[in-house]
Amino acid sequence: MCGIIGCRTTTAAPGYLITGLKLLEYRGYDSAGIAVSAADGSTALFRTTERVDALNGLVRAWDGPALGGIGIGHTRWATHGGVCVTNAHPHQDCDRRLSVVHNGILDNAGPLRAELEGAGHSFASEVDSEVICHLVEDRLKVTRDLLTAVSQSAEQLTGSWAVVVLDGLTGRMVAAAHRSPLLVARSAEGTFLASDISAISDWVEEYRILGDGDVVEVSEDLAWTRAGIPSLAPPPIMRPPRASFSLLDQDDHMNSEIDEQPEAAARVIEGIGRSVADGTLWTGLGLPPFQRLRVIGCGTSLNAGAIIGAGLSRLGGQAHSMVVASEAAGTVIEPGTLTLAISQSGETADVLRAIDEGPEDAPVLALVNNVHSTLARKVDAVLSCSAGPEIGVAATKTFVCQVLVGTGLVIASLVASGRITRHDARSLVDDLYGIPERFAAAALAAHRELPGLVEEVRHASGFLFLGRGAAVPYAAEGALKLKELTYRWAEAYPAGELKHGPLALVETGTPVVIVDDGDPRLAGNISEVRARGGLILSVGRPGSRIETPLSALAPCGPLEAVVPLQLLALRLAVDLGFDADKPRNLAKSVTVD
Ligand code: G6P
Repeated sequence: MCGIIGCRTTTAAPGYLITGLKLLEYRGYDSAGIAVSAADGSTALFRTTERVDALNGLVRAWDGPALGGIGIGHTRWATHGGVCVTNAHPHQDCDRRLSVVHNGILDNAGPLRAELEGAGHSFASEVDSEVICHLVEDRLKVTRDLLTAVSQSAEQLTGSWAVVVLDGLTGRMVAAAHRSPLLVARSAEGTFLASDISAISDWVEEYRILGDGDVVEVSEDLAWTRAGIPSLAPPPIMRPPRASFSLLDQDDHMNSEIDEQPEAAARVIEGIGRSVADGTLWTGLGLPPFQRLRVIGCGTSLNAGAIIGAGLSRLGGQAHSMVVASEAAGTVIEPGTLTLAISQSGETADVLRAIDEGPEDAPVLALVNNVHSTLARKVDAVLSCSAGPEIGVAATKTFVCQVLVGTGLVIASLVASGRITRHDARSLVDDLYGIPERFAAAALAAHRELPGLVEEVRHASGFLFLGRGAAVPYAAEGALKLKELTYRWAEAYPAGELKHGPLALVETGTPVVIVDDGDPRLAGNISEVRARGGLILSVGRPGSRIETPLSALAPCGPLEAVVPLQLLALRLAVDLGFDADKPRNLAKSVTVD
């Protein structure tokens, strides 16, 4: 989703800005742009609805005044206004003196815009962020100081923002943040800003994070203010080891990430196996004992959470509840509850908001793939799902690793609380050790069957996904992947719900994917579908269209079935001519709520 970069360097800014934006591409975006100060006090603006690389061509074609070393850049994922160049960031004020990039959502953009238009400002885009340009423009005319103008403008905003304002005339640059990540870093190479350290980690060793309400002059000295008052800069944080997240020019990341799942699973299980069996994966976190688990997340992470929570209840008889992060407000947190917040990116705004709005004394554990993320910084303890970089925007490998680490955590906590014996825990861990091999067998079975199956369903406008018990979240994940990648309707239900409405959707040829973990009640549901001409595509136990090996104890439920479900979505998307790595309207880092 939206990403920000800024730089103040001695050599030309476009190289830094475009390189940084490419490193933010993995988050998902639909347009990109940079604004660079030019030698004559003007600002050169380059924007595109193509890939970030297209900015290189625009810069090469520039025949205006020499470009300087101060600039800002942005990748946009549309929220307010369609995908077009005029809606892409950076936005500018009426005089084109100020350029602004913004992540987040301004709740009061409508009234502010009306007020500013009434006062004679002329807006070029439909985007909420543009109000910031005109607010700062007004304040700058009065205060003649950019830092003060941005501080005063921020006071008028409600919602969330990470914003950088560049004054092309003076070369000053001011950043402000409220409920949206933004960091600033200085090094011998220059001063840099980014919404995600991965964009600038090649050029800096440490960075500082803007807190809510901070406004910072991005100069040699970093003048830091909080709530309008000069304050000390927060302590620096060492940057994480460098990892390349760039999409570069490759495709098929998702394909190779699905293929990597046996290896990733083996690595994760090897890493946690012993500490699961003896309970130290849980005790090592230093969290208080809990009576019930409250799992929060969104999308794929929510599905992983449903599997983890169900594991706690099924294996240890302990209560759990599921909370969609965007609906967490007002949910009751009883004493003795541990919240498990799951997000591969650790930047999902709905999850961050749910944590911010929860009671301060209720413990929160985060399960993330990025231990340097905003979520990881906010919580009482952090577990890494250790999936390694995942470039495909739709989550696959991270889902599997979330399920494995989360299930490992559940088993460890049950051992530590005496709800299951070490011996039983050892058996469960032994079962997990078989997963990599079962993944490989499931992938083989899928590759054999999918070419024909894709041919049968390529014209279907909608799909149903059904399962029972532990298979229900897998049906949900299969449907989500199909929607994300193929843009076809896909609804998931517990199979017992079929007769309470969804059966109305089944007609001749309607594909109904059954995640079959051997529950005998599924036979009745399959008959109900067949009686109406539906096309049964079963995945799971022997006799299924795609057979996946079943595990004896299945601490994670029928995890192996997710491999054919992911591959079905991928193969159908490719067959339909869609780019599986960059599906439309999906982001890897969902930074707006
Ligand atoms: C991927 C998933 C989405 C999810 C997004 C952010 O794109 O396929 O379902 O919304 O990541 O998820 P996160 O785990 O970072 O909260």
